[in-house]
Amino acid sequence: MDTRETESTTPGNITPETPQADLPPAGHIPVLPVEVMAYLNPQSGQTVVDATLGAGGHSLLIAKAVGPTGKVIALDHDQSMIDRAMPRLAGYPVEAIHARYDMLPEILSTKAIPGVDGLLADLGICSEQLDAADRGFSFSRPGPLDMRMDQSRGQSASDLVNHLSEYDLADLIYRYGEERFSRKIARYIVTRRGERRFEDTADLASVVRRAIPRKDPSGIHPATRTFQALRIAVNDELNALEGFLGRLHDCIKPGGVAVVISFHSLEDRLVKNTFRQSEYWEILTKKPIMASDEEQNINPRSRSARLRAARRIDPNQPKVYQGGKYR
Ligand SMILES: C[S@@+](CC[C@H](N)C(=O)[O-])C[C@H]1O[C@@H](n2cnc3c(N)ncnc32)[C@H](O)[C@@H]1O
Repeated sequence: MDTRETESTTPGNITPETPQADLPPAGHIPVLPVEVMAYLNPQSGQTVVDATLGAGGHSLLIAKAVGPTGKVIALDHDQSMIDRAMPRLAGYPVEAIHARYDMLPEILSTKAIPGVDGLLADLGICSEQLDAADRGFSFSRPGPLDMRMDQSRGQSASDLVNHLSEYDLADLIYRYGEERFSRKIARYIVTRRGERRFEDTADLASVVRRAIPRKDPSGIHPATRTFQALRIAVNDELNALEGFLGRLHDCIKPGGVAVVISFHSLEDRLVKNTFRQSEYWEILTKKPIMASDEEQNINPRSRSARLRAARRIDPNQPKVYQGGKYR
């Protein structure tokens, strides 16, 4: 399974038949828009959560469907994405909240909303975040080695790269980047930082490139996996996702649908296991839905997208645990 996020934003042509035709022409293209809308099926007057507002592409589609009597509650832990998305959503019933998605139960409780009609989470990073050199997510754009999605707190990638032990660095790069050269990369990093601290992305990318001398047959940049691993660690992405998924059933009304799009095999496994093992969910996608060849050509980021959807079942009719599975 290809689990890498693609550092490319070429939008290409968008066919007018797809909901993407409604979207702003430049920047992040929402992945699997037709499939998201088909599974969520938002209706006029409903309240739907977009747990990852990003550039607002999916929120816009959902807001149009729920109409003026409905509402989209959209979360993002990156305030700059909210500032960027909201002008595009002006006039639509979208309320943006600067928060991590694992805080959703508390957010709904302060709003006295016992459960919403549907929820989308489109995990990972937006093209705008990747393209902003000053955020430090991109190996191809020189910038400070930051990578914090919420810049108001937390440790940066530079803290990890300059302070973790060689063993811990190798472990992190192996686990979150699925990088088989992790030990060698960690050794190169630790040797180099003995002479001079790492401060910027280009510097780190060139050291990683040197640690992996041969060209990867997939054609991806040799630093792709290491940068992905650092971003996941800096933002504590897997713990946030686990916390979010573990309480998701408390946020959705019986009959409501949760749609989660992941870009990394570890994320996809968490989503699959949540929907499989819980007595709260009826799985709607036996296998993850992937983007069509046409969408992958238009939007390279969609190549590693995996969509899973499940319906919140009625707690008065719980599934029965039988033969090691909920049925
Ligand atoms: C892939 S983008 C979403 C794109 C969006 N669906 C669209 O159509 O424009 C993911 C967004 O989720 C945000 N995000 C990632 N992890 C988050 C978390 N734990 N809590 C809240 N927002 C998160 C990122 O800051 C980013 O803006």
